[in-house]
Order: sequence, then C-alpha cells, then structure tokens
Amino acid sequence: MNQASITIVGLGPMGRAMAAAYLDAGHRVTVWNRSAGKDGDLVARGAHRAAGITEAVAASDLTVLSLIDVDAMYSALGDTALEGRVLVNLSSDVPDKARKAARWAGARGAAYLTGGVNVPPSGIGQEGSSIFVSGPQEVYEEHRAALDVLAATDYRGADPGYAQLYYQLNMIMFWTAYTGWYQALAVARANGLTAADVLPYAGYTADSMRGFYTHTTPAIDAGDHGGADARLAMCAASVEHVLHTAADSGVDTGILAAHAELYRRAVDAGFGADGTPRLVQLLTQN
Ligand SMILES: NC(=O)c1ccc[n+]([C@@H]2O[C@H](COP(=O)([O-])OP(=O)(O)OC[C@H]3O[C@@H](n4cnc5c(N)ncnc54)[C@H](OP(=O)(O)O)[C@@H]3O)[C@@H](O)[C@H]2O)c1
Repeated sequence: MNQASITIVGLGPMGRAMAAAYLDAGHRVTVWNRSAGKDGDLVARGAHRAAGITEAVAASDLTVLSLIDVDAMYSALGDTALEGRVLVNLSSDVPDKARKAARWAGARGAAYLTGGVNVPPSGIGQEGSSIFVSGPQEVYEEHRAALDVLAATDYRGADPGYAQLYYQLNMIMFWTAYTGWYQALAVARANGLTAADVLPYAGYTADSMRGFYTHTTPAIDAGDHGGADARLAMCAASVEHVLHTAADSGVDTGILAAHAELYRRAVDAGFGADGTPRLVQLLTQN
C-alpha cells in the first residue's frame, strides 16, 4: 500500500515531533510554519519546506495541524483553497470551537477530523501513546493508518467536539496534578527539602490515584455518595491542614485556599458524613 503524504502545519515542539515521526516511518513530508527557522533539521532529513500555506495544503493527502489553538488554524489557513482536502486538527481547544472549526472546514469542502494528543512530544511515535480522534467515521477509517504513526488513535465518535472533550477531561486531571506537584515542591523548598527528596513519595501518590479513581467510579455512577472509608468532614479538616502547612511555610496559598473552600462548602451544606463522590454533585451545581 502506498503511504500517505503528510503536511504538518505548525512546527512547535509537537509539530516537529510529528514531522520527525512521519519521516522516520518513510512518509513524504511537507512542512509549514508561520515563522521561519523551525524546520532546519526536518528539511535536512528530507522534509519539503512549502513556500506558502497554499502549496503546503495542496502538497499532501493529509494535512495535520499542530497549533496553539483552533483560532490559529483560521489565521494559518486564511482563504487557502480547501476543496477536497483532508485536515486533521490536533491543536488543543474547547469542544465547541472544535465543532465550529469542523463546520468551517466542511463549508469549504474539506474533510475534517479533530484530535487531542495525550502525550508530550517525546511520546510521539512511541508504544503506549494515544491520541483521541473524532469526526466522520469514514474519514477516520480512511486515514487511521497514517494517524496511528503518531500514536494509537482512540476514536471517540462522529461529534468533532468529542475528541477535545475527552482530551480536556484528561487535561483537567493533568493540570491539577501537575500544579499540585509544584505546590508541594514550593512547600518542600521553603522547608529546606529538594525535589529529589520528595520524588519517591510523589511517585507513590501518583500511582495510588488509579486506585482512588477505580474505587470511586461505581459509587459516582450509581449516585451513591459513600462515606464508609472517609467522611467529607475528615477530608475538609485534612485539606485545612494542607492549607495551613503551606501558609506556615510562607508560600502562595491561592490554589489550596480554593480547594479548602470547596470541602468546607460540602460540610456546610450538610454533607460531612458523605464521602468524596458527593463533590461531583456539589461541583455540578456550581
Ligand atoms: N508540547 C506538549 O507537551 C503538548 C502535549 C499535548 C498536546 N499539545 C498540544 O499540541 C499543540 C502544539 O503544541 P506545541 O507545544 O508545539 O505548541 P507551541 O510551542 O505553542 O507551538 C504552537 C504553534 O502554533 C503556531 N501558531 C500560534 N499562533 C499562530 C497563528 N495565529 N497563526 C499561525 N500559527 C500560529 C506557532 O507558530 P510560530 O512558530 O510562528 O509561533 C507554532 O508553530 C497545542 O495545541 C498543545 O496544547 C502539546
């Protein structure tokens, strides 16, 4: 089978990793970036530098966009002819913008898939990596093999917003956990500890989260608010201890204060004897 030719639009770290993965896999690769100077290594390896966006989009079977957000697609593509082209936008954004972008591309005669990349650039082309994809199933099936070069695709349905919805759900968990790591390190540093001192315990905590997610899932989906293992009143007290440890250490407490406020609100609302699954209801009512 002939390999698809690929155009990569957007050469940040992610777009460059994608172009490199396609070169590694033997695809014909064309690259375009708004500003010059980001494609030297790729061109040295055989990628074609398009003279402009029109040439870039016309050059390949598939155009993969890896931009800061969806709005950047409009400014990158401008009024480039898209009739009969296939666009796969792997840029992060909110689901509704992904849906609007799909309508915009469809009105110009292009087939359009949305995607959310679940790994950093170093994970592109690696075993175990995944990308959420959504949009018309026949377009996905036709181009699946080419997209799987980047990471195993996980098709989330015809709604072009769904790949972004699943992606943003992952990002909610990612950003809160990652910020938690830096918050802990700020407290650690204020108390004379290094990141290396904390790392073994961070690994343990991160690994344990899978168990918490698995344990609470049936209760949440059944509308059971739990409380047998851990009462929200205890959790609220624990979160206060976290907040005051940070405050006593003289570090920023903004994020932890918001956290403590949520647990306090749960107790004030009369949910102190319930378990943490009750928080989903509390957050949904906001
Ligand atoms: N890096 C990661 O770890 C990671 C992981 C998962 C998902 N992602 C997602 O992958 C996408 C790309 O990530 P990245 O790290 O490569 O991002 P980045 O470093 O911010 O690069 C963004 C790209 O967007 C282009 N761009 C921004 N505004 C533009 C505009 N108005 N018109 C045309 N081009 C524009 C930039 O062009 P210039 O070079 O001209 O500025 C650059 O090529 C993002 O949506 C990101 O959320 C990234």
